[in-house]
Amino acid sequence: MFEFRKKLPENLFKDACDVHCHLLPGVDDGFPTVEKSLHALKKLEERGVTKMVLTPHFMKDYPDNDRVSITAKFEDYKKEAEKVCGIELHLAAEYMLDACFMEHFKQGFLTLDKAGSHVLCETSYLMYEHGISEMIYDIMCAEFQPVIAHPERYEYADRDVYFRWRDKRYKFQLNLLSLAGAYGPATVARANYLLKEDFYDYIGSDMHGLSNFERFLPELRLSSKNIERIEQLIENNKKLVS
Ligand SMILES: [Fe+2]
Repeated sequence: MFEFRKKLPENLFKDACDVHCHLLPGVDDGFPTVEKSLHALKKLEERGVTKMVLTPHFMKDYPDNDRVSITAKFEDYKKEAEKVCGIELHLAAEYMLDACFMEHFKQGFLTLDKAGSHVLCETSYLMYEHGISEMIYDIMCAEFQPVIAHPERYEYADRDVYFRWRDKRYKFQLNLLSLAGAYGPATVARANYLLKEDFYDYIGSDMHGLSNFERFLPELRLSSKNIERIEQLIENNKKLVS
């Protein structure tokens, strides 16, 4: 049946909180400089965003990123940000489920929530690597709540994988631009399926730069029902970070 799709409401991001972005400059493949990152923050503030959780990559590709060094860089960045905008900044991390993951667990996770339980995790896009379930099991035994970043982006993931993850009580975080085609048509299809079936718990920008947002966001058209679902995810974000 034909489904009428419309633009996102103008006020969608009013008082919104983003739980996944790479605004902390110069530490990964996200924003390269403080200036570019602060420019993006100001643009987000114009759209009504009031809180951002910065989630730099913690993975073997970035061996210098650990809890101590990233916390120090975040504190410096926060001082600069406070001079130019009123967005409240929080620090967490996006943890790759790789050979370094358990070391980060030992150091203490930077979590999405103040209560210290929600851990943003990602896997390789191409293949489900051996040992991932065991790593997640270990952190859940320590009462951490895994939040799977952008499950729609994993090429190996099918419905069986998603049901298995949900049965294991993993939480799901949607990348908004996945719905707009920023990562290709197969990702759009997986994101639409997961959104329609109410798999998602949270939503993030996963912003690495402004260009994707400026290119894809104006193009995004969603059904009224899916806009309602996105609004609910934004509410969930607020509760997580309040
Ligand atoms: Fe990310």
